[in-house]
Amino acid sequence: MKILGIETSCDETSAAVLDGDLNILSNVILSQDEIHAPYGGIVPELASRQHIKAISYIVSQALERSKLGLEDIDVLAVTQGPGLIGSLLVGLSYAKGLAYSLSKPLIPIDHLESHVYSAFIENRDIAYPVLALLVSGGHTSLYSLPQSLDFHLLAKTRDDAAGEVLDKIAKYLDLGYPGGPVIDGLAVQGDPARFAFALPQMSDGSLDFSFSGFKTAGLRKIKEFGLNRDHPAFLDFLAGFEFSIIKFLLHNLDRAVQAISPTSLILCGGVARNTKLRKAFEDYADRHKLRAYIPSPNLCTDNAAMVAALAVEKLRQGPDSGLDLSINAYPRR
Ligand code: KG4
Ligand code: ZN
Repeated sequence: MKILGIETSCDETSAAVLDGDLNILSNVILSQDEIHAPYGGIVPELASRQHIKAISYIVSQALERSKLGLEDIDVLAVTQGPGLIGSLLVGLSYAKGLAYSLSKPLIPIDHLESHVYSAFIENRDIAYPVLALLVSGGHTSLYSLPQSLDFHLLAKTRDDAAGEVLDKIAKYLDLGYPGGPVIDGLAVQGDPARFAFALPQMSDGSLDFSFSGFKTAGLRKIKEFGLNRDHPAFLDFLAGFEFSIIKFLLHNLDRAVQAISPTSLILCGGVARNTKLRKAFEDYADRHKLRAYIPSPNLCTDNAAMVAALAVEKLRQGPDSGLDLSINAYPRR
């Protein structure tokens, strides 16, 4: 079986071909970072226009690199939501048209669930129950999966996502877009102990995240110390800010571990590329004798291989649902 996955939920145009054993035959990702960089964040209108320009070429590249033709594809899968509505509609409409013309089934895929399934591409035998921490530019969530495809949302962010806050602080400091990877690189040279940020406390005892307080406290410190690239405390600030976000993520992860006693932990989403977060997550799992699974960096940020991977699992669990041309995009869950 060969699956063609398509992903256009945000600012990456991606197409991938996987086989039924989750081997990646191709995974082509076209980033729009350069287009959005001058604005310090994603401009939805520009994102959807760029997807329209790129989608056809990216799909043909994915097929060419997999050395397959459209006639070899058995099933198509496409991200349905959540994401930017204009961006989602490009991939979804394209996939519907392709599936219709080929008379092939089309499987709609939830973007957040596909992030979690990105971990299975490199580790087919992750033991359940699973606790997944998804940290991206749009979401920060904890999921419990007692068994395959059985997603239970344990926690979400009540305001900004972790990646969003890193991007906004970087934008304020003129560090470029996306800011997460820039802060990751620079913070290595700083001392995280010099700037401490208090962890938010949920008065209702919920496992939910909240990152807007970090953003406000960070901006206040930047103003108070007059921080910029040339300031001697600049790298310490970035290290302390990043460290506090990671500490909060692991704090709530730990509370969820105590609550559901998982066998395996998954870390996924764009911020899962962060070198300190990866290390802290692995160290936590080691200390608690849990198995930790973190996808390779190129499978953490948005990509179509994870879309096809979740489709493979859905097909394994039940027959394909055919082609439903009434499938609609959803911006939010
Ligand atoms: O999952 P993703 O590609 O898109 C969403 O679904 O949001 O995640 C993008 C986010 C951005 O906020 C970006 O700054 C962040 O992932 N990111 C990182 C790193 N690489 C990407 N954050 C921290 N450290 C990194 N190395
Ligand atoms: Zn994503």
